[in-house]
Amino acid sequence: MSVERNGKTEPEKKDRPLIVSYSYSGNTHRIAQGLQKLTGGDWIEVHPWQPYPMAFPELLEQVKREVQSGFHPGLLPVSGSPRPYSVIFVGSPNWCGTIAPPMASWLYKNNLDGKIILPFYSHCGGVSGDLRGTVSRLCPKADVREALGVIGDGGDDLTEILRQWLIKTKNGGKCNENP
Ligand SMILES: Cc1cc2nc3c(=O)[nH]c(=O)nc-3n(C[C@H](O)[C@H](O)[C@H](O)COP(=O)(O)O)c2cc1C
Repeated sequence: MSVERNGKTEPEKKDRPLIVSYSYSGNTHRIAQGLQKLTGGDWIEVHPWQPYPMAFPELLEQVKREVQSGFHPGLLPVSGSPRPYSVIFVGSPNWCGTIAPPMASWLYKNNLDGKIILPFYSHCGGVSGDLRGTVSRLCPKADVREALGVIGDGGDDLTEILRQWLIKTKNGGKCNENP
């Protein structure tokens, strides 16, 4: 089914994916934008209510504390709801080997039962963790697919990396041949 939006014919929300991402320094958002281009999906950004410190030592200390205690920080209001979508891409930087707490908060606060979730993360080549397992624990009734890890913002290879992952997971909605 298609609908008319801004003079263009587009698939209905349930037929196009939602892309949700948290990013501290921009890399994960660039990957999210790449996915949006390839899939024709809708993108929403997650922001913590209380911004994280700018200085790395303080940031690292806070993140370690939050990760160890399983803290779910408050979020600023988000511009969309996952309800109408059946496929949801979920992106986060790798923080201390796991999902960033703001993204964990969003997953925890939304009912994603029965949704297909495709997790992706940006990292710097360090401890990779198990994002798929973490997302599955936060959303036990969702169908969580294989996670994609991208170094930094993926550079010039990003589109190809994403295209290969979409083909492999077969569930990113449509994958435009020439975005
Ligand atoms: C607090 C903190 C912890 C991090 N921990 C890891 C880690 O365990 N493994 C890793 O590969 N990269 C780690 N990184 C690097 C980020 O995952 C990497 O820079 C990523 O590209 C940032 O994405 P963003 O620009 O979307 O925030 C860490 C970065 C920060 C700030």
